[in-house]
Amino acid sequence: MSNLLRCECISVNFGGVSACNNISLEVPEGKVVGLIGPNGAGKTTLFNVLSLFQMQDDGELYYRDKPITRSKPHHMVSHGMARTFQNINLFGEQSTLDNILIGAHRHIGNPLANILSLPGARSNERALRRRALEIAEMLRLYDELDKLVKHLPYGLQKRVELARALAAQPEIILLDEPVAGCNDEETAQLEDIVRQFNREMGVTIMLVEHDMSMVMKVCDYIYVIDFGTNLAEGTPEEIQKNPDVIAAYLGEAVE
Ligand SMILES: Nc1ncnc2c1ncn2[C@@H]1O[C@H](COP(=O)(O)OP(=O)(O)O)[C@@H](O)[C@H]1O
Ligand SMILES: [Mg+2]
Repeated sequence: MSNLLRCECISVNFGGVSACNNISLEVPEGKVVGLIGPNGAGKTTLFNVLSLFQMQDDGELYYRDKPITRSKPHHMVSHGMARTFQNINLFGEQSTLDNILIGAHRHIGNPLANILSLPGARSNERALRRRALEIAEMLRLYDELDKLVKHLPYGLQKRVELARALAAQPEIILLDEPVAGCNDEETAQLEDIVRQFNREMGVTIMLVEHDMSMVMKVCDYIYVIDFGTNLAEGTPEEIQKNPDVIAAYLGEAVE
C-alpha cells in the first residue's frame, strides 16, 4: 500500500523548547491514522508541519513519495490536502452554504469565464453547489444551510469547518482535535461522519486527538508521541495495552 503523507525525523525548536524531536510517521492511502499524546507532547506542532503551516528545523516531508519539505501553506490544497483548526476558523457572518462553497473555490474553473458569467462558468457554479449540498447532506447540515454560522451551536460549527475542508475535494484531510469542546452526542455524530466520508468518499484521514476514546473508535493505526518524540505505534488494540502509553497518560492524570 502506498503512503500518501510521510514525515522523517522532524524536529522543531521554539527557543529552548524542543516541541518535536526526530518524529517519523506514515499515513497510508485510504486509512484513518491517529496521532495522540499527552498535553504538550508536540501534536499540534507536528500537525502544523504536516499541513505546511510550520517550517521544521530538521527532517523531510513527502507526499506520494515526492519531497514537499519546501512547500508553503498555500500549496497544501494543490497537493491534495485540507485541514481544520483546533480553534474554529470560519466566516461567522456568512451562511453555512457560503462557508462550504468557500472551500470549493479551487474548482471554480477559468476565472475570466467566471467574471464574464460565460455558460461554462455557470454550469461549473451549479456543479459546485450540487457538490456542496451533497457534503452538507453527508455531514447532516442540510437544515442549517441558510443559517449564519455564528448562530450555530459549537458542535455544528465544527461540522461546517469539516464540510468546508471536504469541499476542496482533498485526498487527505488533517483534523486537529475535532471533538475538543463537543458533548457526548456531538462526539458520537462526528465519529460516524469521519468513518462515513473515509469509506464513502475514500478520503484519507490524519486525526490528532488528546481524547483517546475517539481515536480508538475511528483509527486503523495510531502513533503516540510524548515529550516531542515517537513513543509507540500500532493498532488501537495494541496501543490500548501498551505499558509505555498507559504510563504517559497516567503521568498526565497524576499531574
Ligand atoms: N509557538 C510556540 N512558541 C513557543 N513554544 C511553543 C509554541 N508552540 C508550542 N510550544 C511548546 O511546544 C510544546 C509542544 O506544544 P504542542 O505542539 O502545542 O503540544 P500538544 O498539541 O501535544 O499539546 C509545548 O511545550 C509548548 O509549550
Ligand atoms: Mg494541541
